[in-house]
Amino acid sequence: TLEQKVDSVLQLMTLEEKAGQLNQYTGDAVTGPAVNDPTKLEQIRTGRVGSMLNIRGAQRTRELQAEALKSRLKIPLLFGLDVIHGYQTTFPIPLGEAASWDMTAIRQSAHIAAVEAAAAGQHWTFAPMVDIARDPRWGRVMEGAGEDPYLGSQIARARVLGFQGEKIGATDAVLACAKHFAGYGAAQAGRDYHTVDMSRRLLWEVYLPPFKAALDAGAATFMNSFNELDGIPATGNRYLQRDILKGQWKFQGFVVSDWGSIGEMVNHGFAKDNADAGRLAMLAGSDMDMESRSYVNSLPALVKSGQVPEELVNDAVRRILRKKFELGLFQNPNRFSDVAREKKLVGAPEHRQIARDVARKSIVLLKNEGNVLPLDKKTKRIAIIGPLGTSKLNHAGFWAVNYDSTGYVSVLEGLQNKFGKQANIQYARGCGIKGESQAGFAEAVKTAQQSDVVVMAVGEAYDMSGEAKSRTDIGLPGQQEALIKAVVATGKPVVVLMMAGRPLTFNWTAEHAPAILYTWWLGSEAGNAIADVLTGDYNPAGKLPMTFPRSLGQVPIFYAAKSTGRPSSGDKDVLYKSAYIDQTNRPQYAFGHGLSYTKFTYGNLKLSSTQLGAGQSLTVSCTLTNAGKTAGEEVVQLYLRDMVASVTRPIQELKDFQKVQLKPGETKTLSFTITPEKLSFYNQEMQWTTEPGEFRLMLGSASDDIRLDSKFELLK
Ligand code: IFM
Repeated sequence: TLEQKVDSVLQLMTLEEKAGQLNQYTGDAVTGPAVNDPTKLEQIRTGRVGSMLNIRGAQRTRELQAEALKSRLKIPLLFGLDVIHGYQTTFPIPLGEAASWDMTAIRQSAHIAAVEAAAAGQHWTFAPMVDIARDPRWGRVMEGAGEDPYLGSQIARARVLGFQGEKIGATDAVLACAKHFAGYGAAQAGRDYHTVDMSRRLLWEVYLPPFKAALDAGAATFMNSFNELDGIPATGNRYLQRDILKGQWKFQGFVVSDWGSIGEMVNHGFAKDNADAGRLAMLAGSDMDMESRSYVNSLPALVKSGQVPEELVNDAVRRILRKKFELGLFQNPNRFSDVAREKKLVGAPEHRQIARDVARKSIVLLKNEGNVLPLDKKTKRIAIIGPLGTSKLNHAGFWAVNYDSTGYVSVLEGLQNKFGKQANIQYARGCGIKGESQAGFAEAVKTAQQSDVVVMAVGEAYDMSGEAKSRTDIGLPGQQEALIKAVVATGKPVVVLMMAGRPLTFNWTAEHAPAILYTWWLGSEAGNAIADVLTGDYNPAGKLPMTFPRSLGQVPIFYAAKSTGRPSSGDKDVLYKSAYIDQTNRPQYAFGHGLSYTKFTYGNLKLSSTQLGAGQSLTVSCTLTNAGKTAGEEVVQLYLRDMVASVTRPIQELKDFQKVQLKPGETKTLSFTITPEKLSFYNQEMQWTTEPGEFRLMLGSASDDIRLDSKFELLK
C-alpha cells in the first residue's frame, strides 16, 4: 500500500534527511527576497532539500533531479512554480477569469496551464489563490476570484479540478495549492503582508469557504500565509492548521509555508530567532519550509532537545513522501520533465484558441450608451489611443512565469487582424501609463479627429497589481484620465478599454465616455479577444466579481453588507443615516454588473412553496428571454436575505447562479434548488444552522439589478 511504501522510505531516513525533506529552496527565478547560496546544489546531493521552486523547463528540472538522485536515499525532488494564469500560453489574470462566471472555461484554463507546466517539468503549482478580497488597494486582488465566498468557492473548485485533472500522477496535471491559509486578503488598509484582525464569524462565513471548497475538490496542498490573524502569524497558527485544516477538515495533503514566512515570525515579534520560528511552525502544523531554512538548520536539534516531538516531523515527511509516490516520482523521477512533450505542448496553437475564448468571456461591458458598440465591421477609420494600445507585456499581467513577448497580441494587432487592409487604423500613444507629460495629447486629439471611432487603451502596467503592489490611489495612473477627457472632447464616438489588475476608480470616464469595456489583463490573446468583442463577433457576458467603488473613501465596499440600525437609501447627505455627507453609498459598478449587446427579460417567478418545513428544499423557477436581436449569454444571479435572525445577516448573499445562452427571441425556463444549506449561517454559538423565519428571494442580472423578487418562510 501507499502507506507501506512511505514508511519503507521514512524508516531509512536520518533526522537530518527528514528535516531536508521538509526544506524547499528557490532556483533560478526569484519570487521573494533573493537568497543566493552556492551550497544549495551540495545540499541537494546530501538529501537536505525536498523541493525546489522556480526551476523552469524540462531540461533544467532534469539536471537538478539528477543531483537529487546522487543523494544517499535518492529521494526525488518535487518542483513547484507559480503557474497562476497559464504557463506559456497566458490566460486572463484570475480576477478577470472570475468575471466569466464560467466554471467550464475556468477549469479548462487551469487544465491547459497544467498541461504545459507538467510537460516543462513542474509537479506542483502554487495556485489557486482563493483569498477573498474586498479591498482594491491590495495588489493581489488580481490573483483571486473577488469578494464573494459563494462565487469564490465555485471558482476554487473549478481551478483545483482543472489543475489536478482526473488523477494525481497523470502527466497532464499538477498538484494544486490552495493559498494563503488564511485571511491574507483582509490585510489592514489593503497593504500587502499587513496585519489581519477579524472576527471568527467573518473568518468562517467569508474567508474560509473557498478553502473548504478547494479541499473538497481534492486540493493536494495548502500554503499558509504571511499575515498574522488575531495576533498569531498564520504560519505559526495551530488553530488554522492543526485544529481546522488537519483536524476538523481532515486534510491529508501537506502545508507549505509562504516564502520566508517561517523566519518572518521573528519580525512579527512571535519567535525569538529562526530556530524558534521553526519550532513554532512545526508545532502549528506547517509541513514544508519555503526559503526560511528554519527546518533544515534547526529541526534536528529541536527534536534532540525534546522541543519538537519527532512524530510531528515524521507526519510532515510522510505527507510529502505520499505526494511523491502518488506522482510516480519514485518509479521515474523525470516522468514530467519531457523535452519533446514540452516542445510540442508549451504554447501550442490549440491552447491559444482556448486562451482567446476564455479572454473574451472575461471581458465586462460596463457601459454602452447609444449602442456605440458593437462597431460596424465596415468602419473605415479607427483611432487607437492610449499607452496600452501596442503593449504586450502589460497583457501578460503579474505572474506570467514564462513570458515571451512574441506570444502576445496587442490591441492594435488584434484590430488589424479583424478589420484587415480595408480599414485605416492609426495609433497614437497620447501619454505614458504612469508619466505626467501631456506632450502627446495634441497628436492623440488629431488622430481622433481623423477617425470615425476611437478605441482608447488605458489602465495599469503589469507591475502595478500583484504581490507587493498595493496602491493608495486606485485611479487611472498618470495623465490617462486627462487624455480621455481631451479625446472625448473631440465629439467622436469613444470606446474605452480599461486594462488593470484591480477595480479602478474613473468617475469622469464612467459618466462621460459612451462605452467602457473592462478587459483586465487578458493574456496571450488579448488583442484578438478584444477585437472579437468590439465587433460583436463575441457578445460580452462578463459580470464583475468585485464591487467597483466611486472613490477610495468607500473602501471596503462590497455588496453583501449589513443593514445597520440606520440604513440609508444610498443617497449622500442623508443626515443621521449610515451615509457620507460628500458621496453616495452606491458603488460605481456593483458586484455582478455586466451588460450585453442584447436585452434579457425575466419573468414567471414560481416557488414550489412559500412555506418550507425544516430540512426541506425549495424549487424556484423563472423564465429568461432574449428580447434583443443578438444571440447572447446572461448570468442569472440568485440572492437571498434572511430577514430576522439571532445574528444579523447581510442584505443580500449570492447563493446560486446560472450562465445561460439564448438565441434572439428564445426563452428558457430555469430552475434553482434552495437547500437548507443555503439558508444556514453560524448562530451565536457558532453552530452552522437554520432558524425559522422569513427570507427574501431575489433573482437578477446584477446585485443592484434585481428583476424578480419574492418571499418565503422557513417553518419551525
Ligand atoms: O506562491 C508565492 C506566494 O503566493 C507569495 N510569495 C512567493 C510564493 C512563491 O513564489
